[in-house]
Order: sequence, then structure tokens, then C-alpha cells
Amino acid sequence: MSAVTTKVRFFSKLSQAKTDSQVVNVAFVDEVLLKRVPGIKKWLAGFDLQIPLKAGEDLKSASRIEAVVETLVSAPVGYARGRTRFFAIGGGSIGDFTGFLASTFLRGVELVQVPTTWVSAMDSAHGGKTALNAAGVKNILGTFHPAAEAWIIEDFFRKQGGERLEESLGEAAKMALLDERVWKASNSAAEKAARWNPARMWKLLPEIIDAKLRVVARDPVEMKGARRVLNLGHTLGHALEAHHGLAHGKAVGIGLYFSLWVSWCEGALSTEDFFALDRALTMNWGLSLANIRKLRMERDRVARLILRDKKSIASGEIRFIGLKAPCRPVQLVVQIDDLLDHLDGFWDEA
Ligand SMILES: NC(=O)c1ccc[n+]([C@@H]2O[C@H](COP(=O)([O-])OP(=O)(O)OC[C@H]3O[C@@H](n4cnc5c(N)ncnc54)[C@H](O)[C@@H]3O)[C@@H](O)[C@H]2O)c1
Ligand SMILES: [Zn+2]
Repeated sequence: MSAVTTKVRFFSKLSQAKTDSQVVNVAFVDEVLLKRVPGIKKWLAGFDLQIPLKAGEDLKSASRIEAVVETLVSAPVGYARGRTRFFAIGGGSIGDFTGFLASTFLRGVELVQVPTTWVSAMDSAHGGKTALNAAGVKNILGTFHPAAEAWIIEDFFRKQGGERLEESLGEAAKMALLDERVWKASNSAAEKAARWNPARMWKLLPEIIDAKLRVVARDPVEMKGARRVLNLGHTLGHALEAHHGLAHGKAVGIGLYFSLWVSWCEGALSTEDFFALDRALTMNWGLSLANIRKLRMERDRVARLILRDKKSIASGEIRFIGLKAPCRPVQLVVQIDDLLDHLDGFWDEA
């Protein structure tokens, strides 16, 4: 673990993002990109070694490490700590896997995150967490290994609307609820009237990344509790993700509405602020609770998922991140039974 702060660099074109010829550069790249992104093969030719990977949760497994290390050590490349850079070129799964490898190969080489999905660009590439899944538990293995640099290259995002953009809106809205600068940048009349498209998200991205980095800087290795605010929307979000297989960002989007509801039920948030924030999720971020009834789960099932999700402090008590006003997160300690009652009310009202 090191306390490096990541330098975030923005590029318009792939050809502007140049590797340093003084070091050994290894590209771990989502194989999907090789077919989808014009000019990528030419760009990758500038690396000393390319390792294409299939993205997804199956990649984040210790069982995948052996074969990749085999490829690394059999390549005619002279690695040395201090002059080897691993590039994670892809979404969060590529970032988590490559980050883990970078933190352990030769006891740690430099990492550069090159996120290519909106979710990874605004979230997983920043903050230094690497992760593998094991024993059926997501992200149970991991290290803190902050990237030396994050390269955000517009060529990867130019055409990436649709599902991938939609999946990121929950995480982006979360940062707006937590951070005044993101809130202001996304809450003007002109912004509210606009539809989400790659150009609009690209414009807001630096503000979202800055907001995440400000939180991370207060608690780089998650020891002081300051990072907990980033769990806003994630208590119900993770349960929906685990039970229904919803995309993370979409599940978090619904979780954000629930976090407002719980904050109001617990008396932390005024009725006026509740309605203003609820409206912002729908109007500014295009989130919605339509079809929510289909997602209703049994109380016992939700309780098990929530308690398994690391947020219980004593038996039956949950640390729940809520809001006391726009951009004012608060940690509420809620009994699981009370939380389940709030959830019953939430399903009924939605
Ligand atoms: N380390 C952290 O702090 C952190 C934070 C949040 C999420 N995560 C992890 O990130 C992962 C989710 O992120 P993700 O959705 O980016 O994951 P992902 O890598 O699985 O990518 C999602 C899909 O997008 C495709 N893709 C990647 N780039 C593309 C592009 N430019 N155009 C079109 N398709 C593209 C991939 O092939 C894949 O099918 C999860 O494993 C999660 O645990 C980590
Ligand atoms: Zn998240």
C-alpha cells in the first residue's frame, strides 16, 4: 500500500496519450475494445506487451492469475520494480484485476488506470481499491494500490451512450447528492432541461472525479470512516444487485431514493428537502421508481443480504448513510427491523 495520489489526465484522442519509453509498459486490455475502438491496435503497438482479457466478474478470480503471470514471465521483457507500468484498459473488472496484479507482481509495480466505461471513469479508477472475488463473495480479496495516473481518453467514450451511460447515472447522481460542486454543475435550469448523452457526461466527468478524490483524500485506506459516505444508496442497491442481478449503477439509483426515504422517516431530512431531492433524482438524472413493485423482496431475504453486506455494527444495527440536507451526508444508526419497516413503506409508497 502506498499513499500515492493519482494524477488524472484527460486526452481527446488515443494518439495523444503517450507511454514513457524509459519504462516497460504492459497493456491489460478488455478484448472487446480491440474490435470496437478505431485506432486502438495502432495505439497498443506502442506498449511492450499486450494482454487481452475478457471483462466481467469471472475475471476477478485468483484462478485467473496463474495464466496471466505465465504470459508476463514468458515474454521477452526485462521487468524491474520502479520501471514497470501496468495499464488497466477497460471497465471496473479490468481495473480491479489488473490493480490487484500490479500491487503484487514483483511486490508492486506502478499502475495506470485507463477506464473505458462511464462507471469506471467516475468511480472504480479512482480511490486505490483493487479487488478479486473468492468463495462466492464479491471483492473479498483486495489491496489498496492507488494508480500513479488515470488517463481518461475521450475516444473511448465518444459513442458510449445507451446501457453503459444509463448504468452510470446512479453513481453520478450519488456524487451530486454528496457534493455541492457536482450538485451545482448538474442542477442549473439548462442542465435540467438537457438529456443525458456522452457529450454532456464528458463535460461533468472532471467534477465527479474531483468530488470522489476529495472524499478519498480524507481517508485513503478507509480507516477513518470518511469514505463511508460513498455508500450512499448502496445498502438497498447491493441487495437489489445480488437478488435481481440489476446492474450496479441502476441498483444504486433505486437505493438513492430509498436513502432519502429513510432519512426522512428517521427525522434527519425535512419534508421540503425530501421532495426537492427526490425530484432532482427524477428530473436531473432521469432515474425512476417505475416498475419498482416487481423488485419487492421478502423481508428475511433483504435482512440477510443487508447484514451480510458489512454495514452492520452490532447485531441488528446498521450504519446507514443518509442525508440531512442536499450535499450533507449523515451516518444514521438504524435497527434492522426499523429499516425493514421503512422498506415496507417504501415499496408501498413508490
Ligand atoms: N475498485 C473500486 O473502487 C470499484 C468501484 C466500483 C466498481 N468496481 C467494480 O467495477 C466493476 C463494474 O464496472 P464496469 O461496469 O466498468 O465493469 P466491466 O469491466 O465488467 O465492464 C462492463 C462491460 O462494458 C464493456 N466495455 C468496457 N469498455 C467499453 C467501451 N468503451 N465500449 C463498450 N463496452 C465496453 C465490457 O466488455 C463489459 O462487458 C465491478 O466488478 C465492480 O465490483 C470497483
Ligand atoms: Zn457503487
